[in-house]
Amino acid sequence: MHESSMKGKRHAVRGSLFHCLCDPGPGGDSRASEYFEDGLLLIENGRIVEYGPALPALARLPENTPVTDYSGKLLLPGFIDAHIHYPQTDIIASYGAQLLEWLNKYTFPTEARFGDPEHAEEVAEFFLEELLRNGTTTAMVMPTIHPVSVDAIFSAAQKRNMRLISGKVLMDRNAPDNLCDTPREAYEQSRLLIEKWHKRDRLLYAITPRFAPTSTEAQLREAGKLAAEYPDTYVHSHVAENHEEIAWVEALFPWSRSYLDVYHKFGLLRERSLFAHGIHLDKTDRKLLEKSGATLAFCPTSNTFLGSGLFDLEDTRQHNVRVGLATDVGGGTSFNMLQTLSDAYKIQQLAGRNLAPTQGIYLATLGSAQALYLEDKLGNFLPGKEADFIVLDDQATPLISRRTSTTTSIEEKLFVFMKLGDDRAVYATHIMGEEAHLR
Ligand code: GUN
Ligand code: ZN
Repeated sequence: MHESSMKGKRHAVRGSLFHCLCDPGPGGDSRASEYFEDGLLLIENGRIVEYGPALPALARLPENTPVTDYSGKLLLPGFIDAHIHYPQTDIIASYGAQLLEWLNKYTFPTEARFGDPEHAEEVAEFFLEELLRNGTTTAMVMPTIHPVSVDAIFSAAQKRNMRLISGKVLMDRNAPDNLCDTPREAYEQSRLLIEKWHKRDRLLYAITPRFAPTSTEAQLREAGKLAAEYPDTYVHSHVAENHEEIAWVEALFPWSRSYLDVYHKFGLLRERSLFAHGIHLDKTDRKLLEKSGATLAFCPTSNTFLGSGLFDLEDTRQHNVRVGLATDVGGGTSFNMLQTLSDAYKIQQLAGRNLAPTQGIYLATLGSAQALYLEDKLGNFLPGKEADFIVLDDQATPLISRRTSTTTSIEEKLFVFMKLGDDRAVYATHIMGEEAHLR
């Protein structure tokens, strides 16, 4: 049966199932996840009704229930990219600079083009297709300062029925004139966009001061005002990524205790506030994150590519700070969350720590959902959740096929996907139960 004719009806999907119920931690606690070698998902109106072993569920299914058969392949909850920039699609893999030089040399010139709605729309379409090809079903996305760049990404996501978070970038200093707004424009344009997009279908709005150096205190105050007036929206920014950047923040905000403290002083730390990077934070900062409910995005390919530093996942976990996994394209070098986990593992190795394969999958799914306060809707296969899921193929490449032929546990197989997998391993991507990509 064709997918579109399944809408609104019960349908089932058969294949191996793996998901996490909580954080397995670096040791990979087996009680934190579930695996069914021959499993079944039952879906109705885009939501999961039931999951578990296939045979007893199939025996109970009404005779004419359609079943999509992915037997032999692995179903996971869709990947959730906690921080990515769609306007940077065309500058991924730009050579030879660290953060501040990279922003001036590559990022700002490319972002200046997003006042053109046709350009914004073309890139947004490509970007979302690229996410789906890579098994990413939800993302928190930074656009540019231009309201049309926000309309473009939300419209493209709405067309695909994707759950996506975005919001106009706020910048009123230390950027080229054509990328600067004012505190008043920041407030007014954000307010109009919140009214237009927040909670429309599956879309959610984020108040988005880019990072402290590109906003005046007057603009951060407006952002804080919006965050208080619209408490169920998100706040999205960057923090403590690069030493030169941190020294700059100290010079710009001499009264602040730390970089994170700048956001705190303007009322930007709260539940649903997410900050990318957070590499160079101290214990006081981590306690402030814990107390406020603000969260971090771990961006391994970006942190290494831009030479920013090694994120301390374990200390952040120990402080009960929610952490999502993110590509941070175009500072990041891959749209693919498996590739992102490959670099996350190496960063843990450099710190003398482990990243269990199950913990890796947790970070890319339920962990990111928790960092975005979406764990009631996304992140695993519990009944009632939205049926965004992906299908991984262990025959995707000759090497993956050869290596997985000798694995004896799901943990081992997940680790092979984590180290050798990329977009080729993503056989299919489903949004609200419906096929959105098939390799
Ligand atoms: N800090 C401020 N803007 C950016 C950006 O676009 N990318 C990264 N990686 N860090 C930032
Ligand atoms: Zn970023």
